[in-house]
Amino acid sequence: MALLDGKHVLLGITGGIAAYKCAELVRGLRRAGAEVRVVMTAAAERFVTPTTLQALSGNPVRSSLWDEAAEAAMSHIELARWADVVLVAPASADALARFAGGQANDLLSTLCLATEAPVHLAPAMNRVMWANAATQANVAALRARGFRIHGPGSGEQACGETGEGRMLEPEQLIDALAGHAGPWQGRHLLITAGPTYEDLDPVRFLGNRSSGKMGFALAEAAMAKGAQVTLVAGPVMLQTPAGVRRIDVRTAVQMHEAVMAELAGIDTFIAAAAVADYRPKTVSAGKIKKSDADASLDLERTPDILAAVSASPLRPKRVVGFAAETEHLDQYAQEKMRNKNLDAIAANVVGMPGSGFESSHNALTVFTRGGRHAIPLATKRQAADALLDILLEQLP
Ligand code: CTP
Repeated sequence: MALLDGKHVLLGITGGIAAYKCAELVRGLRRAGAEVRVVMTAAAERFVTPTTLQALSGNPVRSSLWDEAAEAAMSHIELARWADVVLVAPASADALARFAGGQANDLLSTLCLATEAPVHLAPAMNRVMWANAATQANVAALRARGFRIHGPGSGEQACGETGEGRMLEPEQLIDALAGHAGPWQGRHLLITAGPTYEDLDPVRFLGNRSSGKMGFALAEAAMAKGAQVTLVAGPVMLQTPAGVRRIDVRTAVQMHEAVMAELAGIDTFIAAAAVADYRPKTVSAGKIKKSDADASLDLERTPDILAAVSASPLRPKRVVGFAAETEHLDQYAQEKMRNKNLDAIAANVVGMPGSGFESSHNALTVFTRGGRHAIPLATKRQAADALLDILLEQLP
């Protein structure tokens, strides 16, 4: 079965140079089995012609609310009902502002208000326009209202600058729409990933060898299964998976604050981060100078984020931890699960070459309240898929 078999996709195109990718997008959507109808804003028609999109979609392209013949054939309200899913790509800064303001001053914005189908947005604009506080506030408002935001990606821009603001590639958008129909559809996951760095002074910190790959693989896998994903990441060198909302933090305290602030509406929390258990009691404002004497560090405990989430009045339905152990895997993992009142824990043996920290592969033993499940050595993405399947199966 094709990814989007029989799905009615309403593609909204707004005015931006990335509109040239829409020809490929329409072809890809149809190849994936979707029926596509295109709506363009007046500005979009300055970048691509309706004729091209009409030929590729096999349906008339609409752009005006006041086109009597088109309204007679299918009114804008019928069109809004026809859609199983709306995708606006590219979504310009202006379109985001108008959608966020609930405006209905052209056909596309009217459709976005009138539809009950999920609306996906693929923002594309100059990096400074994207970073602008006005745009970011609009995106936050749209996200809070359930709009799905995909991207933007970063890289070279048509304006010659480099940064965040590129529209995701057509294949990524099609994958995101297809994933939307997956088993995790309608669920919002919050995932922590990577290490934390606990500063000693302006040049030194206590860290650990976590690469963040397992948490990022989980975020990517959950997106592909249709979830909405927020990823709280410590310092890592990894690309954000398409469609994932990422919050960067450095320390355990920052990670704790970010997670607690995001808990409302979360269905599943997965703590894949290797959070520092201790931090220096004091952080020196200046660089600590050496002396001939030996030195020692005074450390204090950091907040246990996983335990705090589990004890929160906003506790998600599923709270899942990780346990990295060098010995007594089953016993220690189950103790952690009990102590932190978890629904599941994914344990792995560390210290073996070819899996765990820094590796792209992992073997996991997952404990749920219902039993023990082995995930044999696989790529972290495959292990992530298997873990998500187990979680849904055991805790539907
Ligand atoms: N965790 C957390 N916040 C912390 C510490 C850990 O959220 N401050 C989470 C990790 O993300 C992981 C799980 O708790 O999901 C690991 O449990 P923990 O008991 O902290 O493991 P270790 O630190 O390895 O414990 P120990 O030293 O007792 O083995």
